[in-house]
Amino acid sequence: MKISVIGCGYLGAVHAASMAKLGHDVIGIDVDKAKVEALSQGKAPFFEPGLPELLVEGVQSGSLRFSTNMSDASDAVTHFIAVGTPQQKNGSGADLAYVNGAVDALLPHLKAGDLVVGKSTVPVGTAERLAAIVEPTGAQLAWNPEFLREGYAVKDTISPDRLVYGVRRNAGDGLNSKARSELVNSDRSAVDILNEVYEHAVSLGTPLVVTDYATAELVKVAANAFLATKISFINAMAEIAEVTGGDVTELADAIGYDARIGRKFLNAGVGFGGGCLPKDIRAFTARAEELGRGESLAFLKEVDAINLRRRDRVVELVVDALGGSAYQKKVAVLGLAFKPNSDDIRDSPALDVAVRLHGLGARVIATDPEAISNSRLRHPQLAFGSTVEALADADAVVLVTEWTEYKDLDPARVASAVRSPVIVDGRNCLDPGAWRAAGWRYIGLGRR
Ligand code: UDX
Repeated sequence: MKISVIGCGYLGAVHAASMAKLGHDVIGIDVDKAKVEALSQGKAPFFEPGLPELLVEGVQSGSLRFSTNMSDASDAVTHFIAVGTPQQKNGSGADLAYVNGAVDALLPHLKAGDLVVGKSTVPVGTAERLAAIVEPTGAQLAWNPEFLREGYAVKDTISPDRLVYGVRRNAGDGLNSKARSELVNSDRSAVDILNEVYEHAVSLGTPLVVTDYATAELVKVAANAFLATKISFINAMAEIAEVTGGDVTELADAIGYDARIGRKFLNAGVGFGGGCLPKDIRAFTARAEELGRGESLAFLKEVDAINLRRRDRVVELVVDALGGSAYQKKVAVLGLAFKPNSDDIRDSPALDVAVRLHGLGARVIATDPEAISNSRLRHPQLAFGSTVEALADADAVVLVTEWTEYKDLDPARVASAVRSPVIVDGRNCLDPGAWRAAGWRYIGLGRR
C-alpha cells in the first residue's frame, strides 16, 4: 500500500520505517530539513535500537523515502498523522498546533477513497473535529493510537500487543448528499484499509478493538494515566517505607505476585518522565476540566505531584550524603535519559536531578551512554563526561537512569575511583548487599 507518514519524530520515523519493512511503499514527510536529509540517507536522527537497520534497508530498496514537501504525499492512499502534541507553553493542556497544521497542509492533496489515520495522542474530541474537515474531500478519518515504548519502538510497531481502530460510526454526517454518498460508497471501509496496513499483526491474531473516535482517543490517555498511577502508587509506598523502616522493593515483589496487581511498573525510584506520561496525564486532566469532569481525574494531579516529589527526595538524599551541603562537592550523575535505551531527555527526572544539584553549587559531572549531546544542547551550563571522568574523585554518586552498564558496575572497582564511597540509587536497581560489602554507604529510595 502507498502510505504517507506526516511527522518523522520518535513516533513517525519508526512508524514509517516499520511500514516499509512490512512491505508498504512509504513516504515520510517532515518540515525539518535536516531531519529529512538524515533520514533520506538512512540515518536515524535519534537513538532507537533497530531503527538504523530498518532505515538503511528501506531507503536502499526504494520503499522508504522522505521529503519536506507535502505534495509528495499525493500518491499515497493512507496518510498517518504522527506529529507531536507537546504540553502547551502556558498551560497543562496539549498543544494541537502541529496536528492542525499537518491536517491543513494535507487537505489539498487528499482524494476520494483516501484514509487519514491519526496516531498522535490528542484530547478526546479532536478526531470528531478533524473528520469534519477531512470528509468533504471524500477521504475518511480513523484514529489509531500507538502504544510504543521508546527503546522497543520497532518491535512495538511491527508486533503490537493490541490494535485499536477508532472509526466514524456515521460517516458523512453533516455532508451534503453527493459528498456523503461518495464517502459512504468509497471502495472500502477504514477498517478494511487498516487491516491491510497491519496485515502482519492481524494475521498473527493480535487483539483488535474497533471502536468509535472518542474511545480510541481515550484508550491512549487512559493507558498512560494507568501506568503513571501505578508508578506513583509504588513511589507513595516508598515514601511510607522511608519513615517506617520498610523496604519498597520487597513490598512490590510481594504485592506483584498477585496476578491482579502484577509486578510490572512497580519499580519505585526517581519517577517517570519522557515525552508521553507526564504531558499526557496533564493534558487528560485539563481536558476533563474543560468537559466539566475535573473531579474524575483530580487524582492525576496527585500522581503528578508524587512523581515530582521523588526528584526533590533524590536531591535531598544526595545533599544529606554530602553532609548537608552540595556546595563545591563533586557529584557523579549516572544517567540523563528519562529511561535506558533512549537518548530522550524530555521531562527526564535524571537530567532534572543533575540540573538541581548544579544549582546547589555542586560540581556535577553527568554521564549517559546516549543522551549527553541532547542534554548539552538543553543545559550547556552542566559539565558532561565519560563514566570514568564522572566517578573520578567523586564525593557522591547518584544513579538516575538504570542503563545496564551502570547496573553492572563493579562496586569494588568504583570504590577505588571515588573520593567518598557513597551512592544514592535513584532507580533501586543495584544490589545493596554487594555495594555495602564493597565498603559503600548505599542509599535507595524507600529501601532498608
Ligand atoms: C510510555 C508508554 O509505556 C507507551 O505505551 C506509550 O505509547 C508512551 O509512553 P515510554 O515513554 O517510552 O512509553 O516509557 P515507559 O517505558 O512507559 O516509561 C515511562 C517512565 O516511567 C520512564 O521514565 C521510566 O523510567 C518510568 N518507570 C517505568 C518507573 O519509574 N517505574 C517503573 O516501574 C516503570
